[in-house]
Amino acid sequence: MEQATLELTVGPVAHGGWCVARHDGRVVFVRHALPGERVRAQVTEETARFLRADAVEILEPSPDRVVPPCPFAGPGRCGGCDWQHATLEAQRELKAQVVAEQLRRLAGIERKVLVEEVPGAPGGLGWRTRVQFAATPAGELGFRRHRSHAIEVVDACLIAHPEVEAVGAEARGWKGAAGVEVIASELGDRAVVIAPRPRRTVAVPDLDVPADILVNQGKGRTDPRHGSGVLHERAGDREFRVSGSGFWQVHPGAAETLLDAVLTYAQPEPGEWALDLYCGVGLFAAALAERVGEEGAVFGLESEAAAVRDARANLRDLPQARVERGRVEEALDRFQIERADLVVVDPPRSGLGRDVVDRIAALEAARIVYVSCDPATLARDLAWLDERGYRLADLRAFDCFPQTHHVECVALLIAG
Ligand SMILES: C[S@@+](CC[C@H](N)C(=O)[O-])C[C@H]1O[C@@H](n2cnc3c(N)ncnc32)[C@H](O)[C@@H]1O
Repeated sequence: MEQATLELTVGPVAHGGWCVARHDGRVVFVRHALPGERVRAQVTEETARFLRADAVEILEPSPDRVVPPCPFAGPGRCGGCDWQHATLEAQRELKAQVVAEQLRRLAGIERKVLVEEVPGAPGGLGWRTRVQFAATPAGELGFRRHRSHAIEVVDACLIAHPEVEAVGAEARGWKGAAGVEVIASELGDRAVVIAPRPRRTVAVPDLDVPADILVNQGKGRTDPRHGSGVLHERAGDREFRVSGSGFWQVHPGAAETLLDAVLTYAQPEPGEWALDLYCGVGLFAAALAERVGEEGAVFGLESEAAAVRDARANLRDLPQARVERGRVEEALDRFQIERADLVVVDPPRSGLGRDVVDRIAALEAARIVYVSCDPATLARDLAWLDERGYRLADLRAFDCFPQTHHVECVALLIAG
């Protein structure tokens, strides 16, 4: 069925890479548009409450519009990037407006937000050090189209780091694979993590440069097939080991930038008790442990077994740091964590949720530093933290994901 085309005047930005327009009294969420533009938009979805549409012709362009640098970006194409058609300055301003709007709407907080550039992504390209490709049944690599299972096959990805592209994964066949992740670490390791289709094996092609090969067995288990699959990263003056597709920031400047922001807010003092919840391989726990010293203590919690192993290895020289495996929702009780001087949280996109907010507030820490990759769940949790007596004292936002709608925030909450 032919989709309707509408002529729209595009209004403000909305969370998720959309702009908001109106047509016949209904809200239209438009992609590939910018605020203030007049566009012709093709409807891609209709619900009882709103429409979704792609701007397919720009009748009156915004001064912030540029030609997308990637040939795979555009209506109906690769769903990986949302803002390739905007200057980098405009992208950061759009993200700032989204964070400010989420804070206002969900937490009642009025705040001017500035999204800061993160060093290491010249022109907003070539930054992604971990790239998850989807594979077609024929074994070609690409990315899912927006809100679709269909795959846009690509021969290169402009936001991928040059060391990822050096592997040449897109030029190979990966029959039997559902997905292929290519990782290049700051210290020069490379790994390819293959997710096979059910009951299929994947013949690994020769690659352009050496890389460890791992097979993702599901349920968080990744087995090395060639090499150890352990990568080495650096942040501050420390090295970190990260196994397979374990969590590490994907932008080469992000770990250092966020670490700096967290420490500036946390102000850990010798002798303090600090918690690092959702600690990954121990990025923040290590720096907290160095600062609280041996009279203090750091307790890290992480749900993934491999990340816990890595964190324990990364913190081996810091006896005041302890890392345990568990879900924050249950493990604070299980390990009888009753109090803390300061708490750092860095949850996945789903945020903390009400129960974890209540549990953390009960620790009566003087300071909470909240690192968030989703401004909507951050704002929701800030409202709950406010009810429990924690006020937002400051917030910084960082462009850790240029060309996409994603933005990283670090918030400082003070008791009282
Ligand atoms: C955004 S990452 C942060 C990791 C670390 N702070 C860093 O910057 O490298 C979130 C981490 O939380 C872990 N995680 C997810 N859900 C969890 C839960 N319910 N309880 C504990 N850890 C969880 C993930 O495995 C991941 O390592």
